[in-house]
Amino acid sequence: MGNSTMKAVAVVPGEKELRLVDHPLPQVSSETQIKVKTLDVGICGTDREICTFVYGEPPKGDNHLVLGHESLGRVVEVGGAVTRFKIGDLVVPSVRRPCSDPGCNPCCNDKQDYCINGQFTERGIKQVHGFMTEFYVDDEKYFTYVPEELRDLAVMAEPLTIAEKGLAQAYAVQKRLPWACTDAGEPLGKGLRAVVLGAGPIGILGAMKCVVEGFDTYVYSRSKAPNPKAELVEQIGAKYYSKYDITPQELAAKVGNIDLIYEAVGGSEVAFDVLQVLGTNGVFVFTGIPAPETRLEIDSDILMRRIVLENLAIVGTVNADREAFENAIADLGEFNKRWPETIKKVITGRYDIADHQELLVGKSKGIKNVIAFS
Ligand code: BGC
Repeated sequence: MGNSTMKAVAVVPGEKELRLVDHPLPQVSSETQIKVKTLDVGICGTDREICTFVYGEPPKGDNHLVLGHESLGRVVEVGGAVTRFKIGDLVVPSVRRPCSDPGCNPCCNDKQDYCINGQFTERGIKQVHGFMTEFYVDDEKYFTYVPEELRDLAVMAEPLTIAEKGLAQAYAVQKRLPWACTDAGEPLGKGLRAVVLGAGPIGILGAMKCVVEGFDTYVYSRSKAPNPKAELVEQIGAKYYSKYDITPQELAAKVGNIDLIYEAVGGSEVAFDVLQVLGTNGVFVFTGIPAPETRLEIDSDILMRRIVLENLAIVGTVNADREAFENAIADLGEFNKRWPETIKKVITGRYDIADHQELLVGKSKGIKNVIAFS
């Protein structure tokens, strides 16, 4: 034991337990790997779901899975062939690793977020240990450089990548409307209206991204205003509405033609309610991964007619590639410039590793909670 192990937060699905484990210290074992000392790890809904044992899978042969897929760390060792990083650099890791099927084009081309056979792995989620521990090692290609001024914010890069990839999808679809594209140098959302569903970290970061992209941005969420999340939303120049105060139809009447709906609410009920008011030629981007619980009755013929007669596009998006991480770091820098006080407030608490039970299985609280490693 002694120096060869470190403390890690892990689930043991066979025993339905969440606990601190002694985990082997990782070693650099190839020329292109780097070793990183963990600084911050974010807690997200997926982690909490893994702690209910409906999701998440330890590596083959292990009985535990080290949690954590949102991380910021500092490089402490580099393999001999590493070119992009040096010791002391701040970095964020990506989550998904490619499958080994030579027939999987996406994985063979560093686009494992589109893996076609489900054989990908994900750090802290599926068959590879995560980052909720003192050190981790991986190939340099899975990391993105973070400038020092983002030390206190960059743990939010991973949740922001969801919006980065989501919006990239929406723009890819909307190339079908060439007249809607703005002039060179202007933000792509200029003159368009976006509704963000949900005011958790993915929703708030997504709303910030929409504002930066020039959209007239609205957030539709559960809690009645005033509340701390609604305040953050108003501070960035977006509008907040609670679903308990206005219906989706009333929301649409206030917004006008809804060009983009970015779903970050996680549940199908609100999502499908609001899908029905997506504007003509609009795009609906789904990002939530609900536990399979809800069955809805919907006016499916009416919805299908609208999808066809009004060219509605519905896109699902999962995970993110290196480009999305690079864009997330650039945008965190932009958010920090525009709203230095507000972006800080998205992180509502920094905790010790000893608080893991409270954070992962206790009552959900705050917006983004982080375990800080000293
Ligand atoms: C993570 C993604 C991951 C997805 C599915 C999300 O919480 O942010 O990286 O692909 O869960 O496991």
